[in-house]
Formats: sequence, C-alpha cells, structure tokens
Amino acid sequence: MAEPINVVVTGAAGQIAYSLLYQLAAGSVFGPEQPINLRLLDIPPMMKVLDGVVMELQDLALPLLREILPTAEPAKAFENVAAAFLVGAMPRKEGMERKDLLAANVDIFKVQGEALDKHARKDVKVLVVGNPANTNALICSHYAPSIPKENFTAMTRLDQNRAQAAIAARIGVQVDKVKNVIIWGNHSSTQYPDVAHATVALSSGVKPVPSEINDDEWLNSTFVETIQKRGAAVIAARKMSSAMSAAKAAGDHMRDWWFGTKTGEWVSMGVVSDGSYGIPKDVVFSFPVAIKNKQYEIVQNLSISNFAKSKLDVTSKELEEERAEANNVLKK
Ligand code: NAD
Ligand code: LMR
Repeated sequence: MAEPINVVVTGAAGQIAYSLLYQLAAGSVFGPEQPINLRLLDIPPMMKVLDGVVMELQDLALPLLREILPTAEPAKAFENVAAAFLVGAMPRKEGMERKDLLAANVDIFKVQGEALDKHARKDVKVLVVGNPANTNALICSHYAPSIPKENFTAMTRLDQNRAQAAIAARIGVQVDKVKNVIIWGNHSSTQYPDVAHATVALSSGVKPVPSEINDDEWLNSTFVETIQKRGAAVIAARKMSSAMSAAKAAGDHMRDWWFGTKTGEWVSMGVVSDGSYGIPKDVVFSFPVAIKNKQYEIVQNLSISNFAKSKLDVTSKELEEERAEANNVLKK
C-alpha cells in the first residue's frame, strides 16, 4: 500500500464538502490503494460544526482514511498537500449571477494562493470549486508563483455532466453512452456547451450526436440555455445551490486528472489559457483536455463553426472583465 497523501478540502463544514468527503475517504477519487490524510479548512465560527463532520468521518470506519485535521489556519491545512479542493466560498442566492460573488470571494483565493505557495507540494493539483470558479483559480495561481500555472484548474465538470445527461435523455440512452461533450469558457451563464464533436454509442454503432439529434434549433438554443442556467434552476428549486452533483463532479474532475482519460476521449476543465483556439491568454478558460501521467493537454485542431466562435468570444470577454474586476477588488 502507498504512503498516505495529504488532501485539503476548504469549506469543509459546508454542503458540498459534506458529499465530497465521503468519496475521498472511500477511495473513489484517488483509488483503493491510496490512503489519505484529510486536512479540513473552514473559518473559526464553523469549528463546532466541523467537529461534527470529523465525528462522522471517524464513524465511517474506512481504512483508507488515516489522519483527520480540522483547522481554521491555512498554514496547517495546506501543509504538504498533494491535492486541494478549494470549495470554501459564499454561494450565490436566487437572482444573482456567479460573478456577483467576486467581491465577497476573491480575497479568499488570494490568501489560499499564498498559503499553497508557502506550504503545499510543488506538484499539488488544485481544483477551484468556489464561485466564480474560473477567476478565483486565476487569482489563486497568481498568488502562488512557485507552483506551475498548469496545476490550477476550475470546475466545469458539473456543466459537462449536466450536458451529457441532457443529451443522453434526449436520445434515450444511458448517460455513459455519450462521450466528448465540451464545455467552453466560463462556469457561468455565458459558457458554451458544445456537442459538435460528441458521439453516442448505439446498437447500430458509434454515431455523431448532432446527426442523431437532428434538430439544430434545439441544440443551439434550448439545450445551450438549459445547461447555462441549470445552476440557477437548482437554486430556484432548492433555495440552496447544487451540492450532491457538485461534489460528484469535483470527484470526477480530480479522479480523471489523477488517473487519466481514455484514448480518444476528453473531459472539460477550466485551465489557464495558452491561446489555443484564439482564446486570450491569462484567463482560466474551460477547454477539452486529454490527460496522461497526471498531465493534461488541451485537445487541438477541433473544428469550430462560426456559431461556436461567436459563443467563445462572448465567454472570453466575460472572463477578461471578471479578471479586471478581480484585480480592482484586490487593489482596494
Ligand atoms: P456552503 O455555504 O454550504 O459552504 C461553504 C463553506 O465555506 C462554509 O462552511 C463557509 O464557512 C466556508 N468558508 C467561507 N470562507 C472560507 C474561508 N476563507 N476558508 C475556508 N472556508 C471558508 O456552500 P457550498 O454549497 O458548499 O458551495 C461552496 C462554493 O461552491 C460556492 O461558492 C458555490 O457557489 C460553489 N459551487 C461551485 C460549483 C461549480 O460547478 N464550480 C458548483 C456548486 C457550487
Ligand atoms: C452550479 O452550477 O450549480 C453552481 O455553480 C452554483 C450556482 O451558483 O449556480
């Protein structure tokens, strides 16, 4: 059995963490051979709640879970971590856009970037879940200059899972029959869920999703808008933002980063743009990525229609605006 790795979850007393921690402790993310030490970070007023979470983690009686450290001190939480789930942040309420959270949340990611820089392993894999996730990931990376930029990612896997599930339901197949749906851009209502390169496995063979659905009007409007607004729809119904599905997506994102993707398949992750597909550099943009040996590469040379290009432009522009606003907040 391998030596334990340190894994930090921030916002550990919150609702996403409550679903995520079980997946980590049970081995569903880092595998059944990888013991983990959990570092649970939250703010001082939540320490009592966190004690309850610790009791429940102990009571799971899971052999892969070794040490559990609840703390309000970033320096302790980030000590020697190999993986970081940055979940802790304020969630939006009904009627808000995710970028409305910038002023409230961006400072958290500055402080945590600095703590990662000082205390984490230099190969730490960072997944930012707290909104606005893309811009928070960018800020976090800026404040951790000793860690490669490639190690900072933002979660758009929930959007990918939503899109895959919606396509599978429309065609009437199991969700795992649908592959290579892409989420481009921001985890916001400007994201572009794209099925131009997606396939579906049917008894008659593997088919392109667009020809199988054969309804461009539905694909270009109803489908796109449903995925863009799904988070808001969950908030309107639950009066709280998605948590179970968000935690599942966080586990999916990190597991694929750790273990890789299958040949010919890709997943979507918010990563620091290298200019691929004409996207501005230095924004965290969701691209399709293929992963091998714990390193991802942006999938290149996919054809982009004029319609798709116009969508990519809108979401790029929003990310540039968010970056400018985040920098203003941090200057104050
Ligand atoms: P929650 O309010 O239930 O929990 C958030 C926790 O973070 C709280 O316990 C809070 O005390 C803690 N926290 C606040 N500031 C902190 C800090 N500086 N350090 C450590 N912990 C801190 O919220 P939630 O439902 O778990 O959602 C968390 C975040 O994830 C929100 O920003 C939400 O919008 C976002 N989210 C993102 C996605 C995505 O797909 N990227 C999906 C769902 C939710
Ligand atoms: C989601 O997509 O469900 C989360 O980002 C929460 C939200 O604010 O929409």
